[in-house]
Amino acid sequence: MNLRGRTRRGPEIDLPLETPRLIMRDFKKSDLKAVHAYSSLEEVSRFLVWGPNTLAQSREAIEGFIEDQRASPREIFDLAVTLKPKRVLIGGAGVRIIDRDNLTGEIGYTLHPDFWGYGLAVEAAGALLEAGFHALGLQRIVATCDQRNKASARVMERLGMRREGAFRASKVIQGHWRDEFFYAILAEEFS
Ligand SMILES: CC(C)(COP(=O)(O)OP(=O)(O)OC[C@H]1O[C@@H](n2cnc3c(N)ncnc32)[C@H](O)[C@@H]1OP(=O)(O)O)[C@@H](O)C(=O)NCCC(=O)NCCS
Repeated sequence: MNLRGRTRRGPEIDLPLETPRLIMRDFKKSDLKAVHAYSSLEEVSRFLVWGPNTLAQSREAIEGFIEDQRASPREIFDLAVTLKPKRVLIGGAGVRIIDRDNLTGEIGYTLHPDFWGYGLAVEAAGALLEAGFHALGLQRIVATCDQRNKASARVMERLGMRREGAFRASKVIQGHWRDEFFYAILAEEFS
């Protein structure tokens, strides 16, 4: 079921999402330690609007994810990224509907630094694009990053997303106005 065939409950993503190396599932309260292991790190939040988190902030974040899971229709799918075969939680990645009328969604992703550089972010974000276009029926998916965040920009480019804009001082990141890149991809461009 997708947005084009609207129902009262709205579109859903069939969870968990599975890729060759990852299983992406809903967060639960017991994920706190694993989430805090990356959300508390300065190198992780350097280009983000949040963090580094205190333990209380990590707990609040998980509570927020769980609240989003209960929404009906659900519009926010922030997922725990776990690594096969032991399903170790290595980060979070999500897709959300940001403009229902115009079938537009947004993706985002964060991994623990121990797992950077193995192509896992591309794998996770690719599964989100797939779910966004095929399960949610989105027509356009966007993502943004601090212009200094080379890794994130590269992830989007690897996914076939197009840089549609370069914004000046568009977001407060770690206390400073920062320039952002804006990327997007259309359903018809996604293979
Ligand atoms: C962004 C992030 C998720 C990338 O994760 P990752 O698993 O290392 O990414 P991948 O291994 O899938 O690499 C994707 C591409 O980025 C490139 N890349 C990774 N780090 C890079 C860096 N510091 N500078 C330039 N390119 C980089 C990789 O080489 C790869 O490109 P290639 O396939 O052409 O070689 C990770 O750096 C992270 O969690 N950062 C902190 C949170 C964050 O900034 N999230 C994005 C918010 S917009």
